[in-house]
Amino acid sequence: MKIGILSSGGDCPGINATIRGVGKTAIMHYGMEVIGIHSGFIGLLNKDVELFDERRLSGILNLGGTILGTSREKPFRKQLASGLGDKPEIIRKNYDELGLDCLVCIGGNGTQKTAALLAEQGLNVIGVPKTIDNDIWGTDITFGFDTAVNIATEAIDRLHSTASSHKRVMVVEVMGHHAGWIALYAGMAGGADVILLPELGYDLEKINKTILDRAHRGKPYSIVVVAEGLKTPEKKRPSDFITRMIEEQTGIESRDTVLGYIQRGGNPSPFDRNLATCLGGHATELIAKREFGKMVCMRDNRVSSVPLSEVAGKLKVITPKHDLIIQGERMGISFGH
Ligand code: F6P
Repeated sequence: MKIGILSSGGDCPGINATIRGVGKTAIMHYGMEVIGIHSGFIGLLNKDVELFDERRLSGILNLGGTILGTSREKPFRKQLASGLGDKPEIIRKNYDELGLDCLVCIGGNGTQKTAALLAEQGLNVIGVPKTIDNDIWGTDITFGFDTAVNIATEAIDRLHSTASSHKRVMVVEVMGHHAGWIALYAGMAGGADVILLPELGYDLEKINKTILDRAHRGKPYSIVVVAEGLKTPEKKRPSDFITRMIEEQTGIESRDTVLGYIQRGGNPSPFDRNLATCLGGHATELIAKREFGKMVCMRDNRVSSVPLSEVAGKLKVITPKHDLIIQGERMGISFGH
């Protein structure tokens, strides 16, 4: 068999470990031919590809980013005057001309949706979920998330000493556009006092009360973790808005820090390397069994798979019943309510 691999959407730590997991299993265990497709779906539109041998897949396990490059190209999005014609049709033609038996799409929600549409059009496709945001429906966890939580937790740890020295409120904004998984896990691991998630909304008075109550209990400093997707008036930057509101309404000096792309760059954690390796290997196993149209996933600590048609268009969000929220509330941590 001949398979193609691409990575699409924002990069995240663990993509290279996945490429290696898919490719080495395919070449060494199943004797398949493997090609790497550059820059996500752009590479498939332009037939910008390279043949992978086992040596090319060595030394990349611990590398951040993606050796294939990536793009946010969405071939099914209605085109204006791009001059490229019918993109899904071009992809189908190039898939045939390249002699592919299957296309492995490593990506986030948008990529899994594209993969599902390509499968609907008759292409053999396998999806591999990837995002630091951990918001892909159908899998308990995505690689990249553990690495991002480690980075964000270390940042929060560091903010504690400067917050207490200056008796300030420190607001730290972490990634998570639609879901606040990084904010919840890093906030709890970093001992934050207030954690604000896009899914749950917030009440400024309650946030201020938590901070003032702490001051009355002899703790005149607080750490607030906000997810970047938190809704604010006029779409103001969440950390900026929350910081200014807290300072104005409590009278306590406040500062904000935006972690940004630091959370996405660099080497994957050991946990993410192993997760990516197992998911990649399972993707190849499905191909060997000709079980196409699926996304590999983790369910109850086991590698598994789910139909792409079930995943497409859904989002995995946090509910107020999450164990960490229940436990946090018991200890006086505010989730904005
Ligand atoms: O999807 C992952 C993510 O890190 C989001 O949290 C963030 O909003 C987005 O990517 C930003 O990515 P880019 O600037 O590359 O579009």
